This record gives sequence, C-alpha cells and structure tokens, in this order.
Amino acid sequence: MSHALRIGIAGLGTVGTGLIQIIQDHGALLKGRAGQSIEISAISARSKNKDRGIDLSSYHWVDDAIEMADNSDIDVVVELIGGSDGPALALTKRALQNKKHVVTANKAMMAHHGYELAQLAEENGVSLNYEASIAGGIPIVKAIREGFAANSIKGVYGILNGTCNYILTEMRETGRPFDDVLKEAQEKGYAEADPSFDVDGVDAAHKLCLLSALAFGRKPDFDTLEITGIRHINTTDIGFASEFGYKIKLLGIAKREENNMYSQRLEPCLVPENCVLGSVEGVFNAVDVEGDYVGSGHLIGRGAGAGPTASAVLSDIIDIARGYSCPTFGCPAGDLTDPSWIDAGELEKRFYIRCDVVDQPGVLADVSKILQNHDISIEAFLQRGRDPGQSVPLVMITHETRQKNITQALGDIEKLNSVLEKPCIIPIEDFQS
Ligand code: HSE
Repeated sequence: MSHALRIGIAGLGTVGTGLIQIIQDHGALLKGRAGQSIEISAISARSKNKDRGIDLSSYHWVDDAIEMADNSDIDVVVELIGGSDGPALALTKRALQNKKHVVTANKAMMAHHGYELAQLAEENGVSLNYEASIAGGIPIVKAIREGFAANSIKGVYGILNGTCNYILTEMRETGRPFDDVLKEAQEKGYAEADPSFDVDGVDAAHKLCLLSALAFGRKPDFDTLEITGIRHINTTDIGFASEFGYKIKLLGIAKREENNMYSQRLEPCLVPENCVLGSVEGVFNAVDVEGDYVGSGHLIGRGAGAGPTASAVLSDIIDIARGYSCPTFGCPAGDLTDPSWIDAGELEKRFYIRCDVVDQPGVLADVSKILQNHDISIEAFLQRGRDPGQSVPLVMITHETRQKNITQALGDIEKLNSVLEKPCIIPIEDFQS
C-alpha cells in the first residue's frame, strides 16, 4: 500500500519556494511518477513572516531547522540553507545519523564534507542526493553515476557558472568592459551583490570538485583545486581570441592523465568558437563527459534559477520515493581513494599570450628569443596597429608546451624594458566537437 513520502524543507529562498511551487502545481503528476504522494511535513527558514510570493500557511513551521532531523514525521530532509558548514552541515549530519534521507543543493558543503557525509549516509543505509548542486537543472549527477556507469571516464569539462558565462558572452557581443556587464548582471538578478563566489570561480570550483569525484571515484578534494576567475579577462583578449577563431569560456576541467594521475583546474580558456561548449552562451551551463566506450556526451541547460534547480531537487526526492538508491559518489564510500594530482606545471597545452610592448624595432625578436630559450614554439602571431614609441599588443598562440615553461618564459618576458605590463596568458582547449 502506498503512503506519502514526507519531506522537511530547510531554507525557503529561491530554490525552496520553487520546490514548494512545483509540489503544489504537480501533485498528481509527482504521485504518478514517484509511486506515492510527496507531502511537506515541515518548513523552516530564517524569517517566518517574509513574503515569498507563495502560500505557506498550511505547512508546519519550525524555527530551528535542526529539529527536522529528530522529527519522526519526516522521511527526507531537504537541505537548502547553503554554506559549507554551520546549520546546513549540522542538520545534514544529524539527519543522516537519524537514518533520514537527505537531498541537498549545497555544493559548498558537498565539496568540503562530501566524503564524510557519504560515509555517514552509507553507514545509516540512507540516500544523500545532490543533483541540484551541480549545474542546476542539468541531470549531470545521474548522467555520470548511472548513464555513463559502464565507462572509464577520461575527462569532464564544464561551463559551470551561468553568471560568468553571461558576463563573458555580453562582453564579447557588446564590447562592454567587465565592470559594466557585472553591474548589469547584478541589476538583472543574475549576479549576487557580492559577486566574488561567482566571478572568482569558487562556485564553479565546488561543482568541478564534485564532478571530479564522481567521474573518477575519488574523494572530493577542494583544497588543492587551482582556481582562476574571470576578473582579469578584458575585451581586448576576447577580440583577439575571436580573430583566431576562439571564444573565452570559464571552464572546469577534470582529466585522467597518465600513470594513474589526475588533474582538475578551473580557469578561463580559449575554446573553438564552433565546438559545443563554444556555442553555449548567456546564463546556460554545459558539461561534456568523455567516456572510453560512449565517447563524448554533452548536456546543456539552465544551471540556476527556481524552476531548474527545484526540478533537480525533486528528481532526487522522486528517486527516494521509488526506493532507488545510488552510492553518493557512484561507488561505496570505502572505495573512494585519495586523488593523485599531477603537478600543474607538467600539463602540456597550447597557450594564448598577449604582451603589451613599446612599438620599436627588436621587441618581437627579444620576446621570441625568450620563448625559444624555454623551448616554446609559436604557431601563430598577430600584431595590430602601429604606434612608434607607444604601447601595442603582441599576440601569440603557442604550440603545445608545458605550463611550467610558459610560466618561466613569461617571468623573463616581464623583465624586458620594452614590455609594459604583466603579459596575459590563457590556455587553449581544442575540443573537436
Ligand atoms: N550562481 C550560480 C551561477 C548558480 O551563476 O551559475 C548557483 O550555483
């Protein structure tokens, strides 16, 4: 006989209210899909009286969300409080210890504590689901954990932050500088008042850390992840990238390298403008998963917002209602191993380099001599404008070279009197599709 699956919702921001909205709108549909109705047993948030644009009067309110972990009328705690530690972590741990399933959209908590929480879920025989925490409405956790389960994953590449993708798209399409576009993104509600989590890459790095753990069966390891945001990207580089047939995208990249080593990095990259990731614009997210048998598979969709994120939360709740459970990171927690990261300096890539130099004879020779000294070969070169004695940009695309060679060469180039500013360097990812 079917009964209701009883959920407690902790956190009533955009996602929490979006979740309630879908449950109110789609009660019959959800019951049909889940095999039982989904009933809200309790709700909680910081402020009870705030107008959230939705009728909450019929739900049982609790002031302290942690009570949900002890409430025998709740089967699933939906943690939408946010933050890596504090109340979100306390609630999640206690709920798992009390043998309640947990569904969360909290990428920071999962990136920092995912391993410990996965162990707790397993010890207590309950699910810890977090589909909404990576790329919002894109079902990427299901894709990797289930759809690609037969594959050894070679790499995962993602546009994982809609705010950054929106800013980079607008900068390219309108020629407006970063600060202008960021301000507009804040006015439109895409970017937070404090945008640093988005534009400095932390939000996307949390998601990458989880993708990497899922893809490779490793413990999530956020602390060693190299993160570069988009504040330094300007329209000059976006324009030059375009002349070479590339767009600049903030990418999360996790790869299986040689000798059982792995790499994970979050940084702006040049990608071919016609590849799938190059064509993903505006607030959209995308993830490219490369498996050894399936090949390359792309998922594109909305990475944020009430509807897409709440939709992902409900997909996790429906799995629990159906009695379907999957190990948190795709294999038993005890099998998750410590990742062995390759030294980033050893990674071989092509690079885009721009040096602002004094327009005078011999500068190009000096720069190319330094590149030669570091065994770096130039594939393409471009200089626009002529302004004797003044600043002009020298732009180069290198052949494949080790990152450490580039770092050393740029250190030497920076010391030349004719070089006016620290050169800009952006790696290139040559996707074939
Ligand atoms: N702020 C994120 C973004 C969504 O702009 O994509 C939540 O992770």
